[in-house]
Amino acid sequence: MDTSRQIEEVRERLERARRPVALTGAGISAESGVPTFRGKDGLWRNYRAEELATPEAFRKDPELVWEFYEWRRGLLSKVKPNRGHYALAELEKKKEEFAIITQNVDGLHSLAGSRNVVELHGNIWVVRCAVCGKEKEDRTVPMEEIPPRCSCGGLLRPGVVWFGEMLPVDALNKTYELLENTDLMLVIGTSGVVQPAASFATMVKQRGAFVVEINLERTPVSSFMDVVINGRAGDILPQIV
Ligand SMILES: NC(=O)c1ccc[n+]([C@@H]2O[C@H](COP(=O)([O-])OP(=O)(O)OC[C@H]3O[C@@H](n4cnc5c(N)ncnc54)[C@H](O)[C@@H]3O)[C@@H](O)[C@H]2O)c1
Ligand SMILES: [Zn+2]
Repeated sequence: MDTSRQIEEVRERLERARRPVALTGAGISAESGVPTFRGKDGLWRNYRAEELATPEAFRKDPELVWEFYEWRRGLLSKVKPNRGHYALAELEKKKEEFAIITQNVDGLHSLAGSRNVVELHGNIWVVRCAVCGKEKEDRTVPMEEIPPRCSCGGLLRPGVVWFGEMLPVDALNKTYELLENTDLMLVIGTSGVVQPAASFATMVKQRGAFVVEINLERTPVSSFMDVVINGRAGDILPQIV
């Protein structure tokens, strides 16, 4: 099937869907200029994200980890949502029940106007005290002090989920509730290798929901999909919505 026929099919399915959800990953923000982790721009000073975005790395060298986040926060402070984010925000206006489950920490869905957003991996604009657990929003770029400290004296850390950490319970509960009730899922710009998100599509598919993947390339979950559209999220989503 050619892409325009696929888009037409998804458009019709979406129109009829009662509780559509989107699962988004770094790919939806790529067109805003945010590097994905696995793309070639994801490296920082030759470190892979898996070497820095971990509790072990933070314990060993909080300054280095914060320098990496300073770089990411600096990048993100300059970017804007793209046509893909806006298309999903538009969809929420048409379908009240529509929700986004995102692995992104950049906050771009909310900035585009989406309100029903579950941030599975936290948000890079939140800082949390590693000692007392207190959380707050902090958009300062650059930070006054690296690593930043809490008023209690403890080290502050980025409010994101690191490799090897548990996902926030509230976000996870909300996610499973959405997955149990959805009849159509769009899987957009995610490599399908980070768990548990990688298993979400197969879960809802087994329940009988219609699953659609939008990605530049094939992924490990492509073979489970009802429709696979290979293209840029910013081109495809406005056509679907
Ligand atoms: N923007 C962000 O907040 C951001 C950026 C990088 C990494 N991360 C974190 O890293 C983890 C990485 O997992 P992931 O699966 O989200 O990302 P990933 O980097 O592993 O994969 C990105 C996927 O997006 C696809 N892609 C790239 N450009 C695209 C485009 N224009 N349109 C459609 N698809 C496109 C790629 O083919 C790839 O499959 C996540 O847990 C996330 O928290 C977040
Ligand atoms: Zn504290």
